[in-house]
Amino acid sequence: MKKLVVLSGAGISAESGIRTFRDSDGLWEKYRIEDVATPEGWRRNQQLVTDFYNQRRKQLLEVEPNFGHIGLAELEKDFDVQIITQNVDNLHEKAGSTKVIHLHGELTKVRSERYENLIYDLSPDKYEIKIGDLCEKGYQLRPHIVWFGEAVPLIEKAAELVSQADILAVIGTSLSVYPAAGLLYHAPMLCKIYYIDPKGAENLPNYVNFIKKGAAEGVKELQKILRDY
Ligand code: OAD
Repeated sequence: MKKLVVLSGAGISAESGIRTFRDSDGLWEKYRIEDVATPEGWRRNQQLVTDFYNQRRKQLLEVEPNFGHIGLAELEKDFDVQIITQNVDNLHEKAGSTKVIHLHGELTKVRSERYENLIYDLSPDKYEIKIGDLCEKGYQLRPHIVWFGEAVPLIEKAAELVSQADILAVIGTSLSVYPAAGLLYHAPMLCKIYYIDPKGAENLPNYVNFIKKGAAEGVKELQKILRDY
């Protein structure tokens, strides 16, 4: 089976009703990154950060995958599909994709603020973490999210996966956050690269096939293209 590697970003979940970060009306217009997505923000105001991610988790209980996610899960019939997502939602898994890695963490998990390997799954209907909820060693639980300024532990694994791709599909990301955005450059010479996004990213290399569409329509088109592989 040919290896199809997918790098997805916030745009793939937009049609499910989850806001992107940098579009107008995006999350980073309402909140300051420094306040809710950095270790310094956490040290300054744990309550604000905890509330922010509690809201994100609550929203997750109310949304469903769209055809962008579902169409990629369907492609597992004919391709070895590996998803690398920058998203912290669980919509790829909910749609049925079986191989998903989350570069920037997962909303459905929390971890010890002191011991990064003490990671806990939240039960599916639980969305709230409170200040005072502790790990087994007595330290506060924090979101299992990679914040700005923190290392991205899965980046090497992701680069390795991209370097083995026959086809790379980049979907719904502004490609503005590194190191994730740099993954594109790990694709081998003969790898076909598709980029699905209604707007497009700056400095997209000219060897990338740009499908200027939203995720649902774009994945439908990708399925058609891949029928001929
Ligand atoms: P951005 O908000 O930067 O980019 C979203 C992309 O989705 C843009 O290129 C939009 O054009 C596109 N888009 C909008 N609607 C779409 C639709 N219906 N279908 C497909 N695409 C659509 O989000 P990311 O690139 O994912 O990190 O951002 C990367 C990282 O920055 C995130 O993982 C997050 C953020 O800060 C952390 O929180 C650590």
